[in-house]
Amino acid sequence: MSPSHAIQQGRSSIAVELSQAAVSFGKPGKAVPALQETNLRIADGEFVALVGPSGCGKSTILRLTAGLLQPTRGAVLVGGREVAAKALRIGMAFQNPTMLPWLTIERNVMLPLKIVRPFRSDYRAKRKTEYRDRVHALLADVGLDKFAGHYPWQLSGGMLQRANLCRALIHEPSLLLLDEPFGALDQFTREELWGTMQSLWLKRKPTVLLITHDLKEAGFLASRVCVMSARPGRIIDDSAVDFPRPRTIQMTFDSEFVALNQRLRDLIIDARTDTAIRGA
Ligand SMILES: Nc1ncnc2c1ncn2[C@@H]1O[C@H](COP(=O)(O)OP(=O)(O)O)[C@@H](O)[C@H]1O
Ligand SMILES: [Mg+2]
Repeated sequence: MSPSHAIQQGRSSIAVELSQAAVSFGKPGKAVPALQETNLRIADGEFVALVGPSGCGKSTILRLTAGLLQPTRGAVLVGGREVAAKALRIGMAFQNPTMLPWLTIERNVMLPLKIVRPFRSDYRAKRKTEYRDRVHALLADVGLDKFAGHYPWQLSGGMLQRANLCRALIHEPSLLLLDEPFGALDQFTREELWGTMQSLWLKRKPTVLLITHDLKEAGFLASRVCVMSARPGRIIDDSAVDFPRPRTIQMTFDSEFVALNQRLRDLIIDARTDTAIRGA
């Protein structure tokens, strides 16, 4: 293998790279820092959870990665390229599933195919065959195969969030960006959805960046957890989570899991207290 080939291969295994990426909002002189110089590398197929106090810059990191926001300083690379340089094939899901109420679940899940290149052009031709099969396969994976023809208002919050995950994955993105997708669900539904998310990831292995305030969720799902300091945040801790998969809710009561939870919690409490003392 030639050296340049080796370098290229090495590069392509890094899905996301923030290097000294910082963000400030507002006009120069009156700029308010939202994110301090941040370094973050996510390898292909990794599942990274980002936790930290409210307002520390978690969603800002996600928006940088999605190319929705440019860093004030530093660089953001996705798949080895500057984010703005190329339309990215990413999937996103937020706390609120925002389904279009006049479309069935099947049609809602198909929406990205109407919008995202390269699917847009042949969507009309294939809608009734190949793409519909793909939607049904995904819905079956999350236990919603019987609900393809239902409307959003006929589904519970947990079911809508399952459909939302399908919509984020329908165009087979290599990168999935999740901003507190299970935050609005009750504890039991949320834990069910962790299982669904885990199976989807084990089957398709997309690179995932998950923002959550639920430390148990981070430990259950992630292969790495990054902790941020208070605003303007930066990553103050980055640990591998090595519990075997598939993980179960029962495992979250094991002493090692509880210890991880406690350590993450202490880090976040310290970060918040520091800010309170500084009066920020
Ligand atoms: N468009 C904006 N204009 C001004 N300030 C913003 C804007 N977006 C976010 N912020 C501020 O930047 C900080 C980080 O925001 P965010 O990344 O949303 O935090 P988190 O997701 O961790 O709660 C917050 O203090 C927030 O108020
Ligand atoms: Mg946020």
